[in-house]
Amino acid sequence: EKYVVGVDLGGTKMAVALFDGQGALVNRDRMETAGVKTAAELTQHLVQMINQVAQGRPLSGIGLASAGAVNSREGIVLHGTNLPEWENVPLKKWMEESLGTEVQVVNDANAAAWGEYVRGAGKGSENMVYVTLSTGIGAGIVLDGKLLLGSHSFAGELGHTILDPDGPLCRCGNRGCWETVSSGTAIRDSALRLLEHTPSAIADIAAAAGEAVSAKHIFEARKRSDPVAIQVLDQAIYFMALGLVNVIHSFNPDRIVVGGGVSKAGDLLFPALRAETQRLVMEPYRRTFEIVPAGLKDDAGLVGAAALFHTCDGR
Ligand code: BGC
Ligand code: NA
Ligand code: ZN
Repeated sequence: EKYVVGVDLGGTKMAVALFDGQGALVNRDRMETAGVKTAAELTQHLVQMINQVAQGRPLSGIGLASAGAVNSREGIVLHGTNLPEWENVPLKKWMEESLGTEVQVVNDANAAAWGEYVRGAGKGSENMVYVTLSTGIGAGIVLDGKLLLGSHSFAGELGHTILDPDGPLCRCGNRGCWETVSSGTAIRDSALRLLEHTPSAIADIAAAAGEAVSAKHIFEARKRSDPVAIQVLDQAIYFMALGLVNVIHSFNPDRIVVGGGVSKAGDLLFPALRAETQRLVMEPYRRTFEIVPAGLKDDAGLVGAAALFHTCDGR
């Protein structure tokens, strides 16, 4: 029996898992990437972790999910968001040289979309869009049961579709990208701006948990009808819905799967997001889609990267 390794290279951690021929997870490991300085160093850690989880078992391949624009044909991460010098990293070549096994590199959200489609909350849908609301916003589009890669495997960078040309500056250089107005980072930053001159329970909630303010605490404050939390979340959810409306008008999906840290807000998010999306979408599209929370949580990228190994040829 041959095994497949899935890797998820995130902004703050990397996770590695070994799957058997039936797709069952047999072994896993993870590591924080904060202390890692160069792409070469990160690759070394990765190779070690893969050898560790595989424990000498025969591998048919490794599927690796990374944030950023990924040239899947050549396995090059063109512009990641993980590390300062994460530019044009020939990850496939480096890893194949050290491991002697075929490696396929895909965008993290494209991988997660595929994971949700085959094993998670997208199962049974025909046209599904996955959106992750996390540090940034990522997406993957599955149409007629196929992951949309585009001509250069860059399709699905919905986090950088522009919703507000006069909005906040994005890491990509443009203004008002979807992720600058609806990601976990965007929610935190707009709350922090208001906290400078408006009383709010947000800082106390974060302090009581011994944590720096994040979207989680803002949802918590929303439960207590905190005015800053209400203002920030109403605005973020409005932009989330605007982004989803663009997605619905573009792809006519029957299901939208929402994952990422912000989706963990659950009932504090989904009913409001559904209502706002129905309000803003064009009339014929109303009630043609469902908006559901991700099923695989933090494992979607790993599962999808491994499952994509066989099907993603970087068209
Ligand atoms: C990146 C995407 C990625 C997403 C989620 C965005 O900032 O541009 O490539 O999929 O974050 O990690
Ligand atoms: Na994507
Ligand atoms: Zn952008």
